[in-house]
Amino acid sequence: MTDPRPPTTHRPFQHTPAGPSLYGPGVAATIADKTLLKKARNVVVVTDAGVRKAGLLEAIVAPFGVRVVHVEDGVVPDADCDHVDATAARARELGCDAVLAVGGGSVMDTAKGVIAALAKGASIKSLEGVATIRGKTLPLVCVPTTAGTGSEATQFAVLKDREERRKRIYVDASLVPALAVLDPTLLVGLPRAVTAATAVDTLTHAVEAIGSKLRNPMGSALATEACRLLLVEQALSRSLLRPDDVEARGACLIAAHLAGQAVSTAMLGACHALAHAVGAHTGVPHGVANGLFLVDVLRENAAKAAPVYATLARALGLGAARDDDAALVAALVAAIDEFVFDTAGLPRRLRDAAPALTEADLPMLAAAALADPDLPTNPVALDDAALHAILRRRW
Ligand SMILES: [Fe+2]
Repeated sequence: MTDPRPPTTHRPFQHTPAGPSLYGPGVAATIADKTLLKKARNVVVVTDAGVRKAGLLEAIVAPFGVRVVHVEDGVVPDADCDHVDATAARARELGCDAVLAVGGGSVMDTAKGVIAALAKGASIKSLEGVATIRGKTLPLVCVPTTAGTGSEATQFAVLKDREERRKRIYVDASLVPALAVLDPTLLVGLPRAVTAATAVDTLTHAVEAIGSKLRNPMGSALATEACRLLLVEQALSRSLLRPDDVEARGACLIAAHLAGQAVSTAMLGACHALAHAVGAHTGVPHGVANGLFLVDVLRENAAKAAPVYATLARALGLGAARDDDAALVAALVAAIDEFVFDTAGLPRRLRDAAPALTEADLPMLAAAALADPDLPTNPVALDDAALHAILRRRW
């Protein structure tokens, strides 16, 4: 039987792959001997107090012995530029020849900032933008301790400029970590709320990369597998049911890595634009903010992107064999709605997620989302009124 669908058309694209990765329970404790780090004599470790307190660092760092010359554990949520510069200055004094990041997105982004500042001999603030680093950087090994950001797979770093009260965004192939170490045992003690919110962030990365104006076969393949691990293999519900289920934790970690790489090549969309606006003004966790808008943004986008969402639904085995695109999109929306609000248990209403907000704040949030750099790659152009309508619907 011939497929009645038209062939896929491919626009020109650039794919920025992740570096090599290692996966396995306990693999993080073996990295001191890996070729990339074997010759390093002055390793600087970047982490945060939470990772240190959880006791995750010891087994990873101890095998390096005296080769670890400094452990910088002062990373705070919303990693900041001044801290990057201070850490880079210390690393330079110590003759740093490799950087090891152990932590979540803020830790990994700080470490990326450090290798960029060291490579250019400049303040990280002066390197903001696209392709500003370009040169050779020190080897960066990333060991994620959450499964959401996928920063260990991307060419991005986001750092806060506290003086100017804004985030600075860095996009450069030199920021792709030299090695990603995916060790699911590090996630076993992750609190329930963090496990749920970060998994929703992962799913949002995957779905937005698949719908993006910059979507491409590389990113879509990676993102589809991320969706399958979360929606079909139920990696999140299994992780929540049994937090020490290392296989389920591993599936969440791999999904985040795949989705991160998909975003690195295809970018994001309106859901992240709205989530950034809400996060910046309220402090609502990033994954929770994404969860509020993912279903509504999908519905808005379906007008133009129905075929790609239908392809995703079909790949995941959602809907029935004879379903048309509209029915397949509806099945996908229903599966995502269930994942976000039932499995992850995130709030359905903005007013519940951010009690300090009032309805009068919604136009300000719409304006912030309109200016967000992730909005232009959304498959449908959403103006101020459309963003405001989504916020009102979720209020
Ligand atoms: Fe995200």
